[in-house]
Amino acid sequence: MNTFLQHNPTKLYFGKGQVEHIATEIPENSRVLLVYGGGSIKRNGVYDAVVGQLNSLNATVFALAGVEPNPRLTTVEKGVAICREEQIDYLLAVGGGSVIDCTKGIAAAAQYDGEAWDLFTQKAPIESALPFGTVLTLAATGSEMNPVSVITNWDTKDKIGWGSPHVYPAFSILDPSYTFSLPEDQTVYGIVDSMSHALEHYFHRTENTPMIDGFIESLLRTAIETGPKLIEDQQSFEHRETMMYLSTTAFNGTLSNGTDGGDWATHRIEHAISAVYDIPHGGGLAILFPYWLEHVLEEDPTRVKQLAVRVLGIPPEGKGDKEVAREGAKSLRNFWNSIGAPNRLSDYDIDDTHFDDIVEKTFIKPGVGTYKELDHASVLDILHRSL
Ligand code: NZQ
Ligand code: ZN
Repeated sequence: MNTFLQHNPTKLYFGKGQVEHIATEIPENSRVLLVYGGGSIKRNGVYDAVVGQLNSLNATVFALAGVEPNPRLTTVEKGVAICREEQIDYLLAVGGGSVIDCTKGIAAAAQYDGEAWDLFTQKAPIESALPFGTVLTLAATGSEMNPVSVITNWDTKDKIGWGSPHVYPAFSILDPSYTFSLPEDQTVYGIVDSMSHALEHYFHRTENTPMIDGFIESLLRTAIETGPKLIEDQQSFEHRETMMYLSTTAFNGTLSNGTDGGDWATHRIEHAISAVYDIPHGGGLAILFPYWLEHVLEEDPTRVKQLAVRVLGIPPEGKGDKEVAREGAKSLRNFWNSIGAPNRLSDYDIDDTHFDDIVEKTFIKPGVGTYKELDHASVLDILHRSL
């Protein structure tokens, strides 16, 4: 194992009715910017529950509504302008990963005099951020308990992941019943995204990590067991709570304890695709990850084979390593497909027209992949396999 520090400052309030903790976490009389998306929280009652809490602490509430899936730099800038004009001292994100990521961007950029994009591209250091909490409505990204955000600059068509210890949420409310109103496709994308985070952590090259490897394998087996049951019965509190805890754990730092952090190449390629085509993140991952596995196993099947045997239940007896690994990649693709995820870029009407552009955008930051470092040709190979 590598040396590591485990420190996650986000307070997690998990379970039914936990929204009441907003009133104890946000200081009384705060000037709060409430950030939310396209209106789902108004339809499912979450907005009323949250505003009730804010009223009880005598907060002055301002709103930034309309944060888009794959949140845009221009929306971050709108939020920053409100923070400055209205002297906001606390932010509250109510929504999925996009709303939370946008809030993180606002929190950091409101404390910086220059261009917000310079913070996200690391041209300027992030030295502070406004405090913020989150109320999660979609189990997927883990943004509710990590210091990561993904923002799209639609003018340049660049989608960039960035992070800073200053943008850990101060607290997050996770009430699984808030996810009952999700459309089926978003529920599916959430399952895929959570599993992808676990899978990308799994592909590290650190020796002697049986504890973390076993933890990841268990998380993945749980997702494979619970995912189809949830799709079958989307009003099941039990399955919603399992997936909500699972998705947070899949990307809150736990799974990288003592390892090199894993290989996030598929996320880099997916971000490049959705910068050009604005597709759902989880849908893009469902297509790409099995083809990344196929690309990787051609050179070294060891880890893919381990995944195939321990997680996907492929019997290894009498087969070569590559054969078992290939069956594993296929089985993962079939599993995601069986719950309703896409498995080809053509499912989103994407052909090879912009592949060169997507490859360039994948390398927006140097170094793609650690378990297997990808060059331009490798990314192109994965894209062509995914057509
Ligand atoms: O905008 P509203 O009306 O809220 O509707 C949203 C949106 O249309 C809807 N939704 C959310 N909760 C709902 C609901 N509809 C009904 N009932 C509810 N309870 O779902 C749609 C998608 O929401 P979005 O927030 O975009 O989804 P997700 O949570 O998957 O976030 C995706 C974004 O997060 C980034 C992705 O790249 C993408 O931009 N990621 C962020 C990460 C992070 N910060 O750590 C890591 C991830 O790997 C990912 O890259
Ligand atoms: Zn993701």
